[in-house]
Amino acid sequence: MKKPFNFIDLFSGIGGFHQAMTRLGGQCVFASEIDRYCIETYYENYKMNSDCDIRSIDEKEVPPHDVLCAGFPCQAFSKAGKQEGLDDQTRGTLFFEIERILKYHHTPYIVLENVRNLVSHDHGNTWKVIRGVLKKLGYRLTEKPLILSPHHFGVPQLRERVVILGKYEPNRVDEPLDIVFPDVLKKEQNSIYDVITDQKVDEKYYISDHEEMVLNAWDEFYHGIDMKVIGFPIWSEFFRYEKAPEEFPKWKQEFVNKNIQLYQNNKAFIDQWFEKYDDLKNFTPTQRKMEWQAGTNIDTIWEGVIQFRPSGVRVKVPTCFPALVAIVQIPVIGRYRRRMTVEEAAALQSFPKEFISNPSDAQAYKQYGNSVNVTVIEECAKKLFQL
Ligand SMILES: C[S@@+](CC[C@H](N)C(=O)[O-])C[C@H]1O[C@@H](n2cnc3c(N)ncnc32)[C@H](O)[C@@H]1O
Repeated sequence: MKKPFNFIDLFSGIGGFHQAMTRLGGQCVFASEIDRYCIETYYENYKMNSDCDIRSIDEKEVPPHDVLCAGFPCQAFSKAGKQEGLDDQTRGTLFFEIERILKYHHTPYIVLENVRNLVSHDHGNTWKVIRGVLKKLGYRLTEKPLILSPHHFGVPQLRERVVILGKYEPNRVDEPLDIVFPDVLKKEQNSIYDVITDQKVDEKYYISDHEEMVLNAWDEFYHGIDMKVIGFPIWSEFFRYEKAPEEFPKWKQEFVNKNIQLYQNNKAFIDQWFEKYDDLKNFTPTQRKMEWQAGTNIDTIWEGVIQFRPSGVRVKVPTCFPALVAIVQIPVIGRYRRRMTVEEAAALQSFPKEFISNPSDAQAYKQYGNSVNVTVIEECAKKLFQL
């Protein structure tokens, strides 16, 4: 690939693709986004106006480019069109916007990203149509979907996504691209402390006294019971039941019965634990539940990654963070008794330190959560451009 090469950034968000492409020697010639906060962050960082609805742009107005990047929203395609051929199935979807640009420009390389379940979406039809359309347009693709996550490359986040790489070679569309990642890392080979600072951070990130009390209670609970690997959710409200209500579905009855058994086996301890914490009266309903998903890899909650989820207080090992998606569940780093900062969320998506986050924390977390991981795209594109 020549340098500098030109790329376009569709559904550009805050420019995860932009970061990866510039690292590889690319120059952005067009970006398209409709969310005003993303447009703001994009301008702040790249001094480029990305404000444009891709549906309103004539493909002839898109500047010539070497690489088309897009993390497009996943939508179902029309089934009625099945017999009428591939072309009709994508009409009206955002993938169709990519298709019409490629049809006109014959872009040499494409780098697309989507949620993992794009492959199984609509019983596999979505994936089949996308591959069919791209091949018909003259693109060679990898034989199998590339399912990759930042943790494969040493960035401690579990976020499996499908990356679609394509090279415009209309005479060789049936020859798959030879792109594989044989030496990726396992989850256990990562550590959250690679992106988490041990320095003091802004006061707003520290958990409240109430949250600290809740976590201390669950930590004491874990130490007090006779079970170290808990294979079911702890639902304290059911401890004193005699048996699971019959109107519950089977799976729920099983969990409730396990909770009753746990209580029976640890009655003396749990009774005094309840007494100490006033029968958990000050806990919210979700704080009365706990999901220990750390096996015996840690022996205190304060060494785990914790999330206050609707399903309960979830504790995991500090190898990787769960995928950054929802602002309400920003993970707590037990060791530092605080939530992940905006800067750490940026690092978890492999954005550089200099990147200027949106001034609103809520927007910033959301934008990083929606963005593509820069390292994953960089590693994929590096291989693609070598072909
Ligand atoms: C999954 S996000 C992509 C994030 C981006 N790859 C990044 O690294 O930040 C999809 C984006 O598509 C944008 N979008 C949806 N419809 C659009 C349209 N018609 N034209 C342009 N952008 C659109 C959404 O606002 C959203 O930010």
